[in-house]
Amino acid sequence: MEIEGIKANNAKQMLHPMTAPFMTKANKPMIIARGDGVYVFDIDGNKFLDSQGGLWCVNVGYNRPEMIKAVSEQVATLPYYQTFTEFSNPPAIELSAKIISMLEPENMRKLMFTSGGSDSVETALKMSRHYWKLKGQPEKTKFFSLKNAYHGVHMGGTSVTDTGVHKRAFEPVLPNCFQIDSPFPYRNPWTEDPEELGAICTGILAREIESQGPDMVAAFIAEPIQGAGGVIVPPTNFWPLVREVCDRYDVLLIADEVVTGFGRSGNMFGSRGWGVKADIMCFAKGLSSAYVPLGATVMNERVASAFDLESPEAMIMHGFTYSGHPVACAAGIASLGIVESEALPENAKIVGDYMMEQLKPFEERYKSVGEVRGKGLMLAVDLVVDKKTRESVDPFSGFSSRLSAVAQKEGVLVRAVGPKLIISPPLTFSRENVDELVAALTKAFDEVDV
Ligand SMILES: Cc1ncc(COP(=O)(O)O)c(C=O)c1O
Repeated sequence: MEIEGIKANNAKQMLHPMTAPFMTKANKPMIIARGDGVYVFDIDGNKFLDSQGGLWCVNVGYNRPEMIKAVSEQVATLPYYQTFTEFSNPPAIELSAKIISMLEPENMRKLMFTSGGSDSVETALKMSRHYWKLKGQPEKTKFFSLKNAYHGVHMGGTSVTDTGVHKRAFEPVLPNCFQIDSPFPYRNPWTEDPEELGAICTGILAREIESQGPDMVAAFIAEPIQGAGGVIVPPTNFWPLVREVCDRYDVLLIADEVVTGFGRSGNMFGSRGWGVKADIMCFAKGLSSAYVPLGATVMNERVASAFDLESPEAMIMHGFTYSGHPVACAAGIASLGIVESEALPENAKIVGDYMMEQLKPFEERYKSVGEVRGKGLMLAVDLVVDKKTRESVDPFSGFSSRLSAVAQKEGVLVRAVGPKLIISPPLTFSRENVDELVAALTKAFDEVDV
């Protein structure tokens, strides 16, 4: 099909996620046809700095020879074999050993492969219920999570997600899922003191677990840094206190590391950055740098050992056709190799700190910038109508999209999400790339901020 035909056909048959068909129709399609390093090219050959990292996932950057070699060799050798029952394949075995060895400090022992983040969350929720049944406490089924949380789109994940827009059309969601206040330093009704806020929010978690009955609570799930909810970085005492609360009430702690896993926050793992060991961890995105869809749900010794029971009850009647997909796992092995050999978590920290240094002054410079926040290479620019009240710009006003449209004209892709701009580039980003991004955002705010 020639270029004009491809453009015209974009939304004729395909439903695009997280938008409405009438909106897709109204907007010019942005058809990305090629990538190289930290740049992508649209179908007309225009070049863009990809400050979105695809969707916070192309962590090693585009067109990496190591990735191409690993994936193409695996396609040629064995494009697919399942891992149900006694079947297996070499890349799945190798990658499972690699992930578990990287998670040795967290005492992780076993994993199940998935095809993405939503699958990984669903697997974690189901495995935690199964765990309690195996432990003889079948009534421990309730889930706690945080307000502003995003845990993917399956029905379990939707039920522990809090962002209303992701839920409303699909309700009723699962019963017995409760969201407690997230420790959001910039917007909370209590305090400007982060440590006090961490203590307040974990106090609420404890109180609500007590109110629901600890003997009925299976797990608490949270993102080490809330991503889609607006890159909300919790106070440093929050996760350690969450671990204490979970231990006190014998509740499993699930870290949803779909965004933070494998380097994005400036640590290899987000929860490691908080000095906390979860019981279950969910991964996707950076695991294969999105070259092929891949996720994993990883369990520590405590959870994994429950499944050692020699009884049909321990049969894990869960899993996906693509669990342990050999091509995806080959991509995972190559991607993690690059993450380690190029020390990408350290780069995310150094370049992320530099990006923060460059963007923080926007808070003073522009009327609409309430806060620039983040950790490593995940940042948000929080857009407000009033700096004093911190009231957000109307998410449906199109304000953030106008900003990202100017940046796009300047050759930089930045993600507009409601009243925020989100920046989540490949972890191979350099200071020069940051300068390019900051120049485009300066132009955007100079033009749009009034
Ligand atoms: C924290 C978190 N969990 C789960 C998901 C869902 O992942 P996927 O879109 O791969 O299903 C996402 C997606 O952004 C996420 O940010």
